[in-house]
Amino acid sequence: MSDENLSPLIEAALAARANAHAPYSGFRVGAAAETPDGEIFAGCNVENASYGLTNCAERVAVAAAVTAGRRELTRVVIASEGKAGPCGACRQVMAEFGDPEVVIVDGAGKVHRRRRLAELLPEQFKLDPPR
Ligand code: THU
Repeated sequence: MSDENLSPLIEAALAARANAHAPYSGFRVGAAAETPDGEIFAGCNVENASYGLTNCAERVAVAAAVTAGRRELTRVVIASEGKAGPCGACRQVMAEFGDPEVVIVDGAGKVHRRRRLAELLPEQFKLDPPR
């Protein structure tokens, strides 16, 4: 578990959360994903009038990191209203890129939980493609 300063990640998650597009649920989420070099990629939830097309904040942040060519995540800070953890789909998506520490913070940036992803999603699905 990294003890590096969490503040920049928390700030990035809160800033992303401020841009959440959540007119349907009213539940705003921001996420900030960190790479081994300390780079930060943020995302917010992006809802849609066709509800099922909604993108979760975590998956938007992961997509931003991957789009920039990164393939490894060390920590992911998730900021929302209460103490909500990442949904199952987002756990699986984060698992694709390592075993980041997942840090749950509230809307004020207060840390509530810190967990390894493997703890949040045991027995992850991994594809061992035929060669
Ligand atoms: N949401 C996230 O952004 N991340 C999660 O892990 C769970 C849920 C969003 C989706 C939707 O916009 C709102 O929260 C309510 O479900």
